[in-house]
Amino acid sequence: MKDGKKLWSGRFQADMDQRTQDFTESTETDLRLVEYDIWGSQTHAIMLTKQRIISDTDLQQIILCLDQVDQDFKAGNFELDPQNEDVHMNVELYLIEGVGAEFGGKLHTARSRNDQILTDVRLYLRQQILEMQQQLSGLCRSFLFIADQHYYTVMPGYTHTQHAQPISLGFWATAYVSKFLRDLKRFDSAYMLINQNPLGSAALAGTSFPIDRGLTAELLGFDGVQEHALDVISSRDFILETLSTLSILMVGLSRFCEEIIYWTTYEFRIAALDDQFASGSSIMPQKKNADLAELTRGRTGRVIGALIDVLTNLKGLPMGYNRDLQEDKPPLWQALDVVQSCLSILPDMLKTTNFDTDRMAQLCEANFIMATELANYLVAEHDIPFRQCHEIVGRIVGELSRSGRTFADRDQTQRLLSERGIDLKTGQLQRVLDPVDALQNNRSVGGTSPTEVKRMSQNFSTQLDEIGVQISSRLSRIDRARKKTRQIVDLVLGGKSLTTIEID
Ligand code: ARG
Repeated sequence: MKDGKKLWSGRFQADMDQRTQDFTESTETDLRLVEYDIWGSQTHAIMLTKQRIISDTDLQQIILCLDQVDQDFKAGNFELDPQNEDVHMNVELYLIEGVGAEFGGKLHTARSRNDQILTDVRLYLRQQILEMQQQLSGLCRSFLFIADQHYYTVMPGYTHTQHAQPISLGFWATAYVSKFLRDLKRFDSAYMLINQNPLGSAALAGTSFPIDRGLTAELLGFDGVQEHALDVISSRDFILETLSTLSILMVGLSRFCEEIIYWTTYEFRIAALDDQFASGSSIMPQKKNADLAELTRGRTGRVIGALIDVLTNLKGLPMGYNRDLQEDKPPLWQALDVVQSCLSILPDMLKTTNFDTDRMAQLCEANFIMATELANYLVAEHDIPFRQCHEIVGRIVGELSRSGRTFADRDQTQRLLSERGIDLKTGQLQRVLDPVDALQNNRSVGGTSPTEVKRMSQNFSTQLDEIGVQISSRLSRIDRARKKTRQIVDLVLGGKSLTTIEID
């Protein structure tokens, strides 16, 4: 507010009711956007000068003051005043109060808060996406670390949460890498749509001033200009895409956590958490709980809720800016915070988890997990059609289980096979029912054989390297854009005229 008046108050006769003020302001939410709002303003002012829409003197005053607000903010001396509504008004007012409306009042030429907010959010969000990609790559590396030690470690593979076929712990671990790599790719595709310049759309219709949208795109490190002004200021599908990527990722994290929770139960006992990543009970001295995993599972709803929130917000909006759109940010921030906090701890929780490989092997012996292998053996060695083998083995399983036995009772298994005309020597039966052999035999593409799992794991590791290179190159592109803006700001502060500064 200038002299207690809003910058837009020309047509108003009465001041805003305090309740209207409180209801509409967004300063707490906007706090994350201050540095991006300043960067956007610097590049806008530079562009206006380059295009001779404002003068070098105007630019010098504006840049001086924007630099001051930047320093004040970094030093913790610039706070967003709720009376000034949002980040944009707070920065602009600082400027107008600092250098007067004669200069500061020119910054908003050919610009609107509608394209400003999108600029700020896109600049912030692309940074967050790159950071989450780094975190998620870290989680994938933890899975690969486990896989690397357990290509031959047998464990039960489940369908319907019932013993199905033996797999290796390495096969299990690489399954998550295979899945999370898709989330990394979804982040990548969201990034490409996010990193487009909305600035210069102005309120909704573009502008009659001869602006250069390519120049602000370049200085802000955007990959291109998002052209259609009305679409730019109306659309939030880049936020939906981010939230849906976050939701899909979070559901994946939750499913992994669900496994950790029941794998660490007494009943399963195939994993034990490191003390550093577990909690106890205030009453039951024996408890060691998987709270990190439970809280990850429990916070998943907040991320999904954020997606539903924004989808619902958008579904009734006509083209144009609507104030409803201000409400896209709190759920987005919430989802980002939840995902980032989970990703900051899960890689270490996983890496330090102790897997009980003896117990895994015991479980593979204790039941009928080798039934499919036995049927496959009969197909291959006795030339019996698979459906018939399924029937034979099914009957044997039925008989054994009715008498309280399993394949672990080799003699009885051998007898039951022999009754059906299939004679297997003890050693042979032993080999057919060996889960490690079964792992090794599944050499089909993507199967459990150690060779396949190693191959996939190397392939995943290469993909992670490539994603890492892409993240670094994007981060350095952003850094170069920042430095370029900074360089121009410094030259302007040093009294240089923009006409003498080479920008491209
Ligand atoms: N606080 C607003 C938002 O987050 C900024 C844009 C305001 N535009 C407007 N016409 N009131 O969407």
